[in-house]
Amino acid sequence: MSLAAEAARRRTFAIISHPDAGKTTLTEKLLLYAGAIHLAGSVKSRKASRHAVSDWMQMEQERGISITSSVLQFTYHGSALNLLDTPGHADFSEDTYRTLAAVDSAVMLIDHAKGVEDRTRRLFEVCRMRQLPVVTFMNKLDRDGRDPLELIDEVSSTLNLKVAPVNWPIGMGRDFKGVVDIKTRQVTLFTAKAHGTEILDTETMPLEHAKERLGDLAYAKVLEDLELLATAGDGYSDQGFLSGNVSPVFWGSAMTNFGVETLLNFMAERAAKPAARIANGDQIVEPEDERFSGFIFKIQANMNPRHRDRIAFLRVVSGKFTRGMDVTIGRNAETLRLSKPHSFLAQERSIVDEAYPGDIVGLYDPGSLRVGDTLAEAGVMKFDGIPRFAPEFFVQIVLKDPLKRKQLDTGLEQLAHEGVVQMFYRPGLSHQDPFLGAVGQMQFEVLKERLKNEYRTEVKFINAPFRIARWIGGDPEGLAFMKARRDYTVLEDRNGAPVVLVETPYVLRYAQEKVPGLTLFDVEPL
Ligand code: G4P
Repeated sequence: MSLAAEAARRRTFAIISHPDAGKTTLTEKLLLYAGAIHLAGSVKSRKASRHAVSDWMQMEQERGISITSSVLQFTYHGSALNLLDTPGHADFSEDTYRTLAAVDSAVMLIDHAKGVEDRTRRLFEVCRMRQLPVVTFMNKLDRDGRDPLELIDEVSSTLNLKVAPVNWPIGMGRDFKGVVDIKTRQVTLFTAKAHGTEILDTETMPLEHAKERLGDLAYAKVLEDLELLATAGDGYSDQGFLSGNVSPVFWGSAMTNFGVETLLNFMAERAAKPAARIANGDQIVEPEDERFSGFIFKIQANMNPRHRDRIAFLRVVSGKFTRGMDVTIGRNAETLRLSKPHSFLAQERSIVDEAYPGDIVGLYDPGSLRVGDTLAEAGVMKFDGIPRFAPEFFVQIVLKDPLKRKQLDTGLEQLAHEGVVQMFYRPGLSHQDPFLGAVGQMQFEVLKERLKNEYRTEVKFINAPFRIARWIGGDPEGLAFMKARRDYTVLEDRNGAPVVLVETPYVLRYAQEKVPGLTLFDVEPL
């Protein structure tokens, strides 16, 4: 198969949802329907692992098949799907943002009894920033939930997103009978089987033929709903979906498998193909470009506790990736041989010989890679687009044993490269006692655990009062203005760029009023 054909059959996506909406269940069912696992329900000790503070700790707890692995690759109807996990714990972390930088579309999973929840909203905002195509799946139809029309209205208004139902539920909870396809008016009837452990047999027929099976009441309601939708909905179009403007909506129940196949078919057929990306500010890199390029969006240590290893996750952007190839790291122009690449399915890792645009490859990292690095066959190149987000929590570190200073410095530096936390330094103080910033509190817990386990260093944190960080740009007067005042703590990031930490938005507004040319960024400027 040609490079272009290989790229065109890739679908790289993530599922975004609020905890408990059913992401784990849906992931497992997608694998079941794709034939990658044969019996659902093999996920172990999920309940216990809910208390784990991060995915990598969770991974240590979970053995056997674990669908919390970061990447799952499987094929379905000729498409090669890459499903990336967004971290499962309730706290928000930068990992999530970065994962969304590596996908081409997302499935937004919503519990139809709860509607749009806090975390769904935040994750969706990241998708919007990237103009990612988003598919909506309304889950748990086997239980009672909200009125479907009200629910799509809520999604549309709270997320400011056009929605286009592709199918529509007939009843819910105990009366859940199935769904009707809005365009073809074909009804798919629901039969619960073996508690969702196996693939369902489904029955599909034209709406008119289903009258008897549905009963007069349900039948009349469907007709009424369809009529309403015909006048209200935005209508599905590939173009609207792929540009990120319209979200197709599906209904189902991950637990009982209902609707999973429809969703999977849609993802395999219509989800976005690998997109072109911008490098070096203005260079468009197409997937079909012959020369290999890609970027690192995640680094994970200790995936296998028996061999202490660091795996760097590479998203292939262009060209064909081949095992053993030499590439250049864009950040420092060093050459790296990619000798032991891995692909992923659940817990099993297998060595890959080649990979194509859209694929995710795991690279053993001896410590030379950082999150955001570009690797390219053609020499020095840098992709835009793994932004660092402004942290919202800040601490400083207290070392329990002062003799461990050196270990602490090494540990902090390495873990910051992995993106565990962000570090901010006082100018001129040779990087002593940095402020640590995180998007989610849990990042600090992970840092503490890892410093203890991997660097034998125990630390405590002192909370810093700041709530907001902004990178400073625009009129240099702005920087001078803030440096001269006590309300502003001006520090430097890892690249020496100025960053201001403050406690309230008010002081930022004040600075902007005083120096209108001042620009503040909530994402690290490139
Ligand atoms: P998450 O990864 O998004 O956090 O959600 P997860 O799949 O773990 O699902 C959260 C709970 O919701 C689980 O119940 C799961 O069984 C249930 N669930 C998921 N999909 C459906 C669905 O379509 N219908 C219904 N009725 N329930 C669903 P739990 O009791 O917390 O855990 P467990 O005992 O099932 O493991």
